[in-house]
Order: sequence, then structure tokens, then C-alpha cells
Amino acid sequence: MAKQFCWVKAIGAFASVVIFLFVVSGQAMGAEQKKEKSYPFEGFVGVKGSKYVGQETCEMCHEKEAREFKLSTHSRLNIEHGQTKAQGCEMCHGPGSIHVDAGGGKGKGIINPRKNPEVCFSCHMDKKMEFRLPFHHPVLEGKMGCADCHSAHGAEVKPWSATTLSGMNEACYKCHKIQRGPFVWEHEALREGCTACHKVHGSVNDKMLLIRDSNLCLRCHTQMDFPVIGRSNHAARMPQGTCFSAGCHTAVHGSNFDDHLRY
Ligand code: HEC
Ligand code: HEC
Ligand code: HEC
Ligand code: HEC
Ligand code: HEC
Ligand code: HEC
Ligand code: HEC
Repeated sequence: MAKQFCWVKAIGAFASVVIFLFVVSGQAMGAEQKKEKSYPFEGFVGVKGSKYVGQETCEMCHEKEAREFKLSTHSRLNIEHGQTKAQGCEMCHGPGSIHVDAGGGKGKGIINPRKNPEVCFSCHMDKKMEFRLPFHHPVLEGKMGCADCHSAHGAEVKPWSATTLSGMNEACYKCHKIQRGPFVWEHEALREGCTACHKVHGSVNDKMLLIRDSNLCLRCHTQMDFPVIGRSNHAARMPQGTCFSAGCHTAVHGSNFDDHLRY
């Protein structure tokens, strides 16, 4: 009897040690992962042999950029990297000693991320994957840069916020003028920003759509009396194609001909 009691105790003690180790190692792992997540940095992409000189040096000649950059998201970053730190101008332009020694100049010993998004990928590795998806903006092909949509030095890297989504659409209208309208019949969905329907770095779906079928639209257009949408029953129409395919609401961005968004 007494012996058996001992066994129970021993098992109990063993179990609590196991649980303790589990919790401790779990916490350690959590901490490690967290550290990795907040500071992913692959190292400077830069001109060979150039050394890190610090932001103050750049400021002497590039007052305008330095002034803008003070308020930027990236100006608050300070990422340990071996002996040096990824911070200031050189986190994106690479170490600048060769450029500075040459007295500055275009194409002289410094990286311009407009032509080389690799510097951005040194921290935003996951974004590179997005641009490799089958339907994507041609950034890796060198036909456009991150700065076509993001402001490199400005206060908001994303030149829009939750309250000013129209700023995002403006960034797109620079190149996609047709979608700007003005339309006699607007589609109010555009007020939620183009990203309400598009995944703009890249997507597995044609036209960089978030979802390739009618669910794209039904996220906003589902009513209590579904399959009634708007004022008409869609039960017979839905199986014939997507909401935005031929004959239906093809003018998804707005229409000048038809209040049901058709051409
Ligand atoms: C001695 C003055 C001087 C210093 C210091 C200097 N630059 Fe420049 N930089 C220039 C000049 C001049 C140009 C050419 C500007 C032009 O033609 O519009 C230039 C051009 C550039 C360009 C554009 C290059 C291109 O090929 O498009 C970048 C980016 C740049 N500098 C970043 C930096 C950074 C980052 C630092 C600090 C590490 C720095 N500069 C330090 C003078 C300087
Ligand atoms: C977050 C990354 C990032 C940081 C940090 C950064 N830049 Fe830039 N910089 C860019 C990008 C992207 C471009 C290209 C912008 C474009 O072509 O519209 C650029 C362009 C430039 C140019 C060329 C402008 C031109 O008209 O050709 C200069 C000069 C420059 N940066 C200086 C600086 C200086 C000085 C700092 C620090 C005070 C700095 N940058 C910090 C990303 C950055
Ligand atoms: C040294 C690392 C590093 C480099 C290089 C870098 N970034 Fe970032 N970037 C970050 C970190 C870290 C954050 C997250 C900051 C935060 O959450 O406050 C960030 C945030 C952003 C955001 C999102 C801001 C937001 O409001 O959500 C954008 C967009 C962005 N970076 C674009 C770029 C582009 C474009 C380049 C290249 C021109 C670049 N970054 C280069 C580290 C970097
Ligand atoms: C065609 C326009 C466009 C281009 C080009 C572009 N971005 Fe973006 N980016 C966006 C939009 C729009 C968002 C906001 C996505 C959202 O809110 O759903 C975004 C968000 C981000 C974010 C914030 C993280 C997130 O997922 O919200 C980062 C970081 C970023 N972009 C980095 C980059 C880098 C690096 C490049 C260049 C290699 C780049 N972007 C090129 C439009 C663009
Ligand atoms: C600097 C110009 C530029 C900017 C800014 C830009 N795009 Fe694009 N966009 C392009 C180019 C170039 C293509 C590729 C066209 C092609 O492959 O034929 C494209 C393709 C697209 C496509 C797919 C079109 C198709 O026929 O497959 C969509 C959707 C799109 N962009 C949406 C956006 C959105 C949303 C924004 C704003 C967040 C934006 N774009 C910002 C240049 C731009
Ligand atoms: C309500 C969802 C929705 C919103 C919001 C939206 N789009 Fe689209 N967009 C679509 C659909 C659906 C297609 C594909 C149409 C097709 O394949 O016939 C498309 C196609 C495109 C194309 C390819 C050319 C074309 O017309 O087929 C471009 C470019 C484009 N969108 C840009 C934009 C821009 C820029 C914005 C923001 C101003 C935006 N879209 C907002 C749903 C949307
Ligand atoms: C982000 C939310 C959202 C998404 C996604 C969305 N819509 Fe809309 N749509 C609206 C709003 C808001 C209105 C205006 C109010 C209303 O009529 O319900 C509207 C109106 C419409 C109208 C005009 C209705 C009428 O006759 O008055 C049509 C047609 C339409 N949407 C079709 C589509 C199609 C097709 C898609 C998918 C490509 C789509 N919508 C995706 C929000 C959205």
C-alpha cells in the first residue's frame, strides 16, 4: 500500500518537472521567435567595400531628405547588426563611405532603391514572396519600384491611413487613370480603398484579386433575404458566372451607362 502511494507521488513529481521544463522552454522559444519577428535583417545590401558613416554625414548634403525623414516610420528603427546598426539613411541606401569620399553624385557609390528593391527585402523578406506570385506588380522585373506606392522618406511609408484611404487610391490613379472616373454611377466599395478587392503586391488570382469568385462581392452584398441582392433575386443568375463576368456587373469600378455597374 505504502509503496504504491510512493509511486503516485513520484509520477506526480516527474510530471510537474516535465510541465515546468515545457513551460520554460516554451517561453524561451517564444522570446526567440519574438526577437526574430521584430528585427528581421539580412544585412546591408550595399556597394562593395563601402563603410557605414552615419546619418549626420548624409545630412550635410541632403538637407531636404533628412528633414522629411525625421518623421518617418523607419527613422525610429535601430537594428543591431554585428558591430554596426541598421539605422538612418544607410539602412536603405547601404553604407555610404565611397559615395561620401567621391563628394557625392548620381550613380556614385550609393544604392538607389528605386532601381534596387533588394534593400527593402533585406528586412521585408516576406514581401519578396508576394511579388513572385503569378499575378503581381512588375517590381522584381524593374519596371516600377516600391516608391511608386510608398513614400520613402515621408512621415507615412504608406501614404494613407485607416482614416484616409482615398490617399491610397490616389497612389494607384497615377498609373490607373480609368479607375479614377469620374463616373455617373460610382461604386461605393472604392471608398474602402482598392485593397478591398485587390492584393496589390501580388496574388494567385488574375487581376490580383483577393478572391476570384463571387465571394469577392458577397462579403459586402449579402442580405438577410439572400439570394436577393439589391432588389432582385439572384438565385438563377449566380450559377452562371461571377458577379463581374460578362453581362453582369462588369464595370466594377463605376459606370457611366448603368446604375447596376455595366458598360
Ligand atoms: C558631399 C556631399 C554628399 C554627401 C556627404 C552625401 N551625398 Fe548623396 N549625393 C550628393 C550629390 C551631389 C548627389 C547627386 C544629386 C543629384 O544629381 O541630384 C547625391 C546623390 C545621392 C543619391 C542618388 C543616387 C542615384 O544614383 O540616384 C542618393 C541615394 C544619396 N546621394 C544618398 C546619400 C546618403 C545615404 C548619404 C550618407 C551616407 C549621402 N548621400 C551623402 C552629395 C552627397
Ligand atoms: C526606408 C528606406 C529609406 C531610407 C531610410 C532613406 N531613403 Fe532615401 N530613398 C529611398 C527610396 C525608395 C528612394 C527612391 C525614391 C524615388 O525614386 O522616388 C530614395 C531616394 C533618395 C535620394 C535620391 C532622390 C532623387 O531625387 O533622386 C536621396 C538623395 C536620398 N534618398 C537620401 C536619403 C537620406 C539623406 C536619407 C536619410 C536622412 C534617406 N535617403 C533615407 C529609401 C530610403
Ligand atoms: C533595416 C530594416 C528595414 C529596411 C531596410 C526597410 N524596412 Fe520597412 N520597415 C521595417 C520595420 C521593422 C517596419 C515596422 C515598423 C513598425 O511596425 O513600426 C517597417 C515598416 C514598413 C512599412 C509599413 C509601415 C506601416 O505603416 O505599416 C512599409 C510600407 C515599409 N516598411 C516599406 C519599406 C520599403 C519600401 C523599404 C525599402 C525602400 C523598406 N521598408 C526598408 C524595417 C525595414
Ligand atoms: C502597387 C503599389 C505598391 C507597390 C509597388 C508596393 N506596395 Fe507595399 N503596399 C501597398 C499597399 C496598398 C499596402 C497596404 C496593404 C493593405 O493594407 O492591405 C502595402 C503594404 C506594405 C507593407 C506593410 C505591411 C502590410 O502587409 O500591411 C510593407 C512592409 C510593404 N508594403 C512593403 C513594400 C515593399 C518592400 C515594396 C517593394 C518591393 C512594396 N511594398 C511595393 C502597395 C504597394
Ligand atoms: C507606377 C505605376 C503603377 C502604380 C502606382 C500602380 N500600378 Fe497597378 N499596374 C501597373 C503595371 C505596370 C501593371 C502591369 C500591367 C500589365 O502587366 O500589363 C499593373 C497592373 C495592375 C493590376 C492588374 C491589371 C491586369 O490587367 O492584370 C491591378 C488590379 C492593379 N495594377 C491595381 C493597382 C492598385 C490597386 C494600385 C494602387 C495600390 C496600383 N495598381 C498602382 C502600374 C502601376
Ligand atoms: C469592389 C471590388 C473592387 C475594388 C474596390 C477595386 N477593384 Fe479593380 N477590379 C475588380 C475586379 C472584379 C476586376 C476584374 C474585372 C474583370 O476581370 O473583368 C478588377 C480589375 C482591375 C484592373 C484591370 C483592368 C480592368 O478594369 O479589368 C485594374 C487596373 C484595377 N482593377 C484597378 C483598381 C484600382 C486602381 C482600384 C482602386 C481605385 C480598384 N481596382 C478597386 C474589383 C475591384
Ligand atoms: C467593400 C464593400 C463592397 C464590396 C467588396 C463590393 N461592393 Fe458593391 N457596393 C458597395 C456599397 C456600399 C454599395 C452602395 C450601397 C448599395 O447599393 O448597397 C455598392 C453598390 C453596388 C452596386 C449598385 C447597386 C445598385 O443597383 O444600387 C452594384 C451593382 C455592386 N455594388 C456590385 C458589386 C460587385 C459586382 C462587387 C464585386 C466585384 C461588389 N459590388 C463588391 C460595397 C461593396
